[in-house]
Amino acid sequence: MVALTLVFVFSAFCLQLSLATSGFDHSYYQGAVNTSSYECLFSGGYRYAIMQAQTGHPPGTGHYNPYIGENYHNAVSAGIYPVDVYIFPDYGLDPAGQVNSTITSLFEDDVLYHDNMIWMDVEGTEYWIGTCDENIQFLHTVISTAEAMYSDCGLKYCIGIYSSASQWSPIMCDTTEFSSYPIWYAHYDNNPSFSDWKNFGGWTSPVMKQITGTTDLCGTQIDNDYRP
Ligand SMILES: *[C@@H]1O[C@H](CO)[C@@H](O)[C@H](O)[C@H]1NC(C)=O
Ligand SMILES: *[C@@H]1O[C@H](CO)[C@@H](O)[C@H](O)[C@H]1NC(C)=O
Repeated sequence: MVALTLVFVFSAFCLQLSLATSGFDHSYYQGAVNTSSYECLFSGGYRYAIMQAQTGHPPGTGHYNPYIGENYHNAVSAGIYPVDVYIFPDYGLDPAGQVNSTITSLFEDDVLYHDNMIWMDVEGTEYWIGTCDENIQFLHTVISTAEAMYSDCGLKYCIGIYSSASQWSPIMCDTTEFSSYPIWYAHYDNNPSFSDWKNFGGWTSPVMKQITGTTDLCGTQIDNDYRP
């Protein structure tokens, strides 16, 4: 009986450990998400999130996510912390202007300076419509604008990149110019581990992995993420 109890306590402890690294991201398309949904996610073991701050396609239509302020504060009040944000850069808009505008709105909504990072989403050859050299220059401007406005977040890194080898290669022609930024990669193998990682873009190790695509849960939709 004592042994069984110990096994139970030990398994609960392990479960807690594995749950402690569960996170999710969700996009503009989830709209307004209420605190009950985030409390449900918290009960399911989710402890951090990444929310879309700016849409980026089709090119020229990108805009701030008007739900992020409310969603951010609802998630934090449910115990989900930290909550990072991601920007889908819009190649059809001025790179500095769009990032400036989005980060200004994030400040107004009190979303930044809470132990959180800004991730730049690099995917979709149909959206990154420049040549590789142009796309590289565009991303440099996007990142330098973000750094000028948010380099003092108090973390080791304030800006990161979301991509994958299959996206980075055609859009950026395998440049290694951004490898000093942390990489969050996508591989929908539902495997919370980096064992599948393969080097690309000069990155030799990731910091986060998106392990599932859109999944219905708790009255909203999430992608599942893993970080150690
Ligand atoms: C952001 O925009 C404001 C207002 O137009 C401007 O004063 C500021 O210099 C811009 N910052 C960057 C980093 O582009
Ligand atoms: C929260 O949102 C979910 C999904 O839209 C909905 O089913 C639920 O009734 C809402 N709860 C509250 C308290 O508004």
